[in-house]
Amino acid sequence: MLELKGKVALVTGGGSGIGEACAIMLAHQGAKVAVLDQNIEAAERVTQQIKSSGGQANALRVDVSDEGQVSKAVDEVISQFGALHIAVNNAGIGGDQAPTAEQTIAGWRKVLSVNLDGVFYCMRDEIPAMIKSGGGSIINMASILGQVGYANAAGYVAAKHGVVGLTKSAALEYGTKGIRVNSVGPGFIKTPLLSAVPKEALEPIAQLHALKRLGESKEVATLVTFLASDEASFITGNYYAVDGGYLAQ
Ligand code: NAI
Repeated sequence: MLELKGKVALVTGGGSGIGEACAIMLAHQGAKVAVLDQNIEAAERVTQQIKSSGGQANALRVDVSDEGQVSKAVDEVISQFGALHIAVNNAGIGGDQAPTAEQTIAGWRKVLSVNLDGVFYCMRDEIPAMIKSGGGSIINMASILGQVGYANAAGYVAAKHGVVGLTKSAALEYGTKGIRVNSVGPGFIKTPLLSAVPKEALEPIAQLHALKRLGESKEVATLVTFLASDEASFITGNYYAVDGGYLAQ
C-alpha cells in the first residue's frame, strides 16, 4: 500500500483514460486530487466518482496549451488544497496522421502546443509551488513514441521525445530542492485516444507488444502512483516504459 495521505496531487487530462485512472488511484491511496481537463464535464464526473468512494477531489477547467490558464489553475489548486506535492502532466492529443512532408503547419503546432508546450507550462508553475510545499514528484506522460519513431506521426513523436528531454533537464535542476521528475512511456493503451484508430488496425497494433495485447489505463496508473510516492525516493530523471514489451525489440 503506497501511502499518499496528506499529499496534494494534480492530474492534467484527468477526465479520461490514463489521467482518469491516475486521479482515481492517487485519491484511493489518500491524496487530495485536483482533476484538470479542458473538458470540465469529464473532470467533474471523475471527481464525483472519487468523492463517492470517500476521497477528496476538485475539478478545474484548463487548456494546458494556454500558459495563462495553467498559471491560474495551479494557483487555484494551492488556494483550494494549500499545497502541491504531486503533478501528473498527462493531457495529450493524438495529432494528425500523415507522412512528415504532408503534415500541415497548423497540425504540427497543435500537437506540439498541447503535448510539449503544455508539459513545460505546467512544470513552470508546478515547480515553484512544490518548492514552497517542501518538495514533490512530477510525472510527465511520454509514450513509447518518446523513445522510437512511428510512421505518420512526426509531431506526436517529436513532442514525446521532447517530454523525455524536458524531464531529464528539470530533474537535474531541482533534485536538491526535493523535487523528483520522471517520465512514463505507455505502450498502446485502451482509451478514447485510440478511437481514431480503425478497429481492424487495433489487433495488428496489439501484436507489436511482447504480451500481444493492448494495455489498460490502470496498468499505467500503478506505475505513476509508485513514482508519485515516497517509496520512489531515489528515482529521478528517468523514463519508465509500461509497454507490454513493445520496446524490447
Ligand atoms: P484520452 O483522450 O482518453 O484523454 C486525454 C484527456 O486529456 C481528455 O480528457 C482530454 O479532454 C484532455 N485534454 C486534451 N487536450 C487538452 C488540453 N489542451 N488541455 C487540457 N486537457 C486536455 O487519452 P489517453 O489515452 O488517456 O492519453 C493520456 C496521455 O497518455 C496523453 O499524453 C497520450 O499522449 C499518452 N499516451 C497514450 C497512449 C495510448 O495508447 N492511449 C500511449 C502512450 C501515451
